[in-house]
Amino acid sequence: MFREHAGWRLPALFALILIGGLVEAVGILTLLPLLSAAVGDTADNPFAASVVTVLQSAGVAPTILNLLLVIVVAFALRGFLVFISTYFMSIIVVDIRRRVQSDLTRRFGEMELSYYVNQTAGWFNNILIAEVARFVASMRSFSLLSVSVINALVLLPIALSMKPEVTLTIFVVGGLTLISMRGIIGRTAVYSREQTRLQGRLNSTFIQLIQSFIYLKATGSTRSANQHVINSIQSLSRTELRIRKLAAIIVSVKDPIAVIVLAGFIYYEVEILGGSLAEVIVVALVLYRMLTQLVSLGPQLQVFNQTIGGVFAVREVIADIEPHLEPGTHGARADLDQPLSAENVSFSHGETAILHHLDAVIRPNETVGVVGESGSGKTTFFHLLTGMLRPNDGEIRIGDTPYRDLDMAELRNQIGYVTQDPVIFDGTAADNISLWQCTPDDEAGMEQVRAAARLARCDGFISELGNGYATEVGDRGVRLSGGERQRIAIARELYKNPRLLIFDEASSALDAHSEQYLQDSIESMHGERTVLIITHRLASVRDCDRIYVFSDGRIVEEGSFETLFHTPGSRFRSMCTEQGITA
Ligand SMILES: Nc1ncnc2c1ncn2[C@@H]1O[C@H](COP(=O)(O)OP(=O)(O)OP(=O)(O)O)[C@@H](O)[C@H]1O
Ligand SMILES: [Mg+2]
Repeated sequence: MFREHAGWRLPALFALILIGGLVEAVGILTLLPLLSAAVGDTADNPFAASVVTVLQSAGVAPTILNLLLVIVVAFALRGFLVFISTYFMSIIVVDIRRRVQSDLTRRFGEMELSYYVNQTAGWFNNILIAEVARFVASMRSFSLLSVSVINALVLLPIALSMKPEVTLTIFVVGGLTLISMRGIIGRTAVYSREQTRLQGRLNSTFIQLIQSFIYLKATGSTRSANQHVINSIQSLSRTELRIRKLAAIIVSVKDPIAVIVLAGFIYYEVEILGGSLAEVIVVALVLYRMLTQLVSLGPQLQVFNQTIGGVFAVREVIADIEPHLEPGTHGARADLDQPLSAENVSFSHGETAILHHLDAVIRPNETVGVVGESGSGKTTFFHLLTGMLRPNDGEIRIGDTPYRDLDMAELRNQIGYVTQDPVIFDGTAADNISLWQCTPDDEAGMEQVRAAARLARCDGFISELGNGYATEVGDRGVRLSGGERQRIAIARELYKNPRLLIFDEASSALDAHSEQYLQDSIESMHGERTVLIITHRLASVRDCDRIYVFSDGRIVEEGSFETLFHTPGSRFRSMCTEQGITA
């Protein structure tokens, strides 16, 4: 996974780390002749001798000062290389974060409605922010792990040539320590996945709490909703504590093991074998470095497993979402000057059949009404017309071109949609109408915004807001009334000036006066663009060219208001009677 994202930079990083390790080895080895000179030993180690030879051939006499200088330069150079490789590692990791987040954002933008409705806002947020952060942390700990392995391996030949038995013992001890930690490291990975799940739950419950704040507060339900979030926090804390406990165990055993082994080595060499102190000190240093690198593999593997949940989560999402991505922007241009037709269209959500064998035609510039009881499938039908859902059976076409051959993004560009729940963004009134297309100093653009606002009858109240069109309306428009939100949502569609305009219960939050005004606006578009109106208020479809009556996922009646109303025994007529419409 890391290789796939880091590409050529991974071997480059390893090379840098390797050079850093070699420079460190040179520094440590130069200590050998230095200490030998200091305590009057003779250096018979081949590495030490070759260091002296190399120095001499470079014209540097092995005096104490020169040796010290070499050591200082080596460690300074190593410091510089550590800086370069650490920074380079950060560049790689930050770049991976950028790419993974951008890729996820693109996929989330392209996912199908059917995928979207099965997730929560908190879940998406968690994947994009927290899981990607863990993903990146896991990459970072993988690099650190590689640093330890490379550093230990660089020192290995030196240690082997000096003290082969001791070196092998150390490798065995290091290996055994790692094996004994295996259980703990494995458990960490399990808790890490659990953490991913709980983090997602906390995110979604918390976002719900904030989004429903007004309702919860007004109904005194904040406490039970809060408790729901707090339960999530508690489960998450428990899991985190378990992970931290395992981490504490692993970190704590690292140094004692290293020191015990080294103490044993020094005692054995100096006291029992009576070895050269200079050599023992240098070998002890090499071994200590090696051993700490080896033993720190444990904690690093543990951190790696702690964060690996993020890698799995991100990978799973990328794989899961793949079959649910909408085809890209290719295909024929949708020509809405041709009739839009649904032929024998059926649709199910999973096993649940929602729409059955619908046949409908919407001709260019017609105004078509859709009525029917709640849950009869009206909104679902419009999701099919915008290509957000695809029929399980039958076909939707524009002219003779089936939807699957159309560039859907381009089709949707020509569609305006006033939804059942008005969509308002955190921004100014003008931003909301123009979708950030128009800045306050763009006079011509602002005139278009105002014209759309006048048509949707929101010009009046917007002008009275503190800052007029530049007033911030709050997250999802919380500083507006329901009807104001709805009118702004309508103004946005009128500003867009689409070829096909869909109103789904657009007038439900409007007072009678505003509704009549909206009705007049819609009527003024009659014959100029195609308009579809879904509504429960039958008076609103009086002027429609045609009306489809939905019932239980079927189109049960079709015709003009007059025809349907005057058909004896028609469902439409009885619906009119229920609403007190008598003629
Ligand atoms: N994602 C989904 N999974 C399963 N069933 C769903 C899903 N979305 C909607 N439904 C069901 O589909 C049916 C039709 O819903 P739809 O929103 O089309 O009704 P509607 O006619 O627009 O109703 P209303 O007038 O109340 O808006 C409903 O019974 C609803 O429960
Ligand atoms: Mg609906």
